[in-house]
Amino acid sequence: MTDGGAVQRMLLTNIGELVTNDPADGRDGGALGIVRDAAVLIEDGRVAWVGPAVHAPGAATDATAIGSATDAASVRREREDRLDGEEHRAAWDAGVEVIDLDGRAVIPGFVDSHTHLVFGGDRAAEFAARMAGRRYEAGGIRSTVAATRAATDDELRARLAGFVDELHRQGTTTFEVKTGYGLGVVDEARLARLAREVTDEVTFLGAHVVPAEYADGDREPGTGADAYVDLVVGEMLDACTPYARWVDAFCERGAFTAEQSRRVLEAGRAAGLGVRVHGNQLGEGPGVALAVELGAASVDHCTYLSDDDVSALAASDTVATLLPGVEFSTRQPYPDARRLIDAGATVALASDCNPGSSFTSSMPFCIAVAVRDMGMTPAEAVWAATAGGAAALRRTDVGALRPGMRADLAVLDAPSSIHLAYRPGVPIVAETWKDGVRVA
Ligand code: NIG
Ligand code: FE
Repeated sequence: MTDGGAVQRMLLTNIGELVTNDPADGRDGGALGIVRDAAVLIEDGRVAWVGPAVHAPGAATDATAIGSATDAASVRREREDRLDGEEHRAAWDAGVEVIDLDGRAVIPGFVDSHTHLVFGGDRAAEFAARMAGRRYEAGGIRSTVAATRAATDDELRARLAGFVDELHRQGTTTFEVKTGYGLGVVDEARLARLAREVTDEVTFLGAHVVPAEYADGDREPGTGADAYVDLVVGEMLDACTPYARWVDAFCERGAFTAEQSRRVLEAGRAAGLGVRVHGNQLGEGPGVALAVELGAASVDHCTYLSDDDVSALAASDTVATLLPGVEFSTRQPYPDARRLIDAGATVALASDCNPGSSFTSSMPFCIAVAVRDMGMTPAEAVWAATAGGAAALRRTDVGALRPGMRADLAVLDAPSSIHLAYRPGVPIVAETWKDGVRVA
């Protein structure tokens, strides 16, 4: 962490627009807590100070800038900032690396709370068929299960490393990875172990679909969906728990019923895992109600919601995680983020990166679609892709840039975060920093 005990300090300065996600920091009153002409001091990988660059450690304390406050509250606030700046002058004198960001915007690193990145093969042909009119069906998952079982650890590891690089290059600094393409004790544990090599946010999704060897076998004793659930809640859960933080189930027609999902989620919870749910992707169903009832951290997809689902989400602290890449790639109607936000629900955006329903790892892409087609403002979408993702993972150390939090951030080749939606498809993430280290 330190060399010879010295604290490592870095000052990112000349930031045109800093998104802190700290409403207390917002000079413009926005939920993004925007500070203009800002600086961020990083000490040993954590945020130590944020504020106007003129008040930063070592900066000339500019009386005219401080005198610009127009009301008592902002005068007090600016005085506090100034004192913070004085406090950090010692740090500046002790040596700090100053990085001039030339007026570019800085946002917290994206928190992608939903991916399925450990898999073999791809399903490009299935995508092409869908674009020619075929419907998306959960059963396609089984072809990825076959390709994943056939892949070696090193093949899956190399693939994962490629995805991690892809995530970093697009500004993502925290990401969850699910199992769910092994669907046997040995293969699910293998995927959980490989996922754990790249993230602490591993989700056990043995209940993704019923694998081919159990499906359609209800007449044979020991086969069928319920027999598969017995395996999931028993040996498979035991083998995966050491690597996982979360348990998930695909509660949907064609996958698992509410009763089967409940068995899996309750068993995972009893084993110490947090609960998350795939629900209401292909039609209205029991997924959201079950997630809220179990106090899940998040229910993901939420494409088809009844009024009761929306009210239940709004009254709970279960995050509604929307996955625009899925509707884009399956030609389904987009979820209605506006309806959820207006009702008071917490909304997150995530990529759902997987080879079937959404083969994108790009949070900027998800933001652009959410703004264009799901009724979100640019500010709401940026919040949902950062602080919203952190809420969906119950993380308080990422998703915002406040003193004490991880110095995880993205530098945009743009003057404001609005450009994430305004310039769709353009690679405007110029730099990505994780724990105070540049990773892309
Ligand atoms: O989140 N909905 C279920 N699982 C994935 C799709 C996985 C696949 O098609 O391979 C999803 O969309
Ligand atoms: Fe998913």
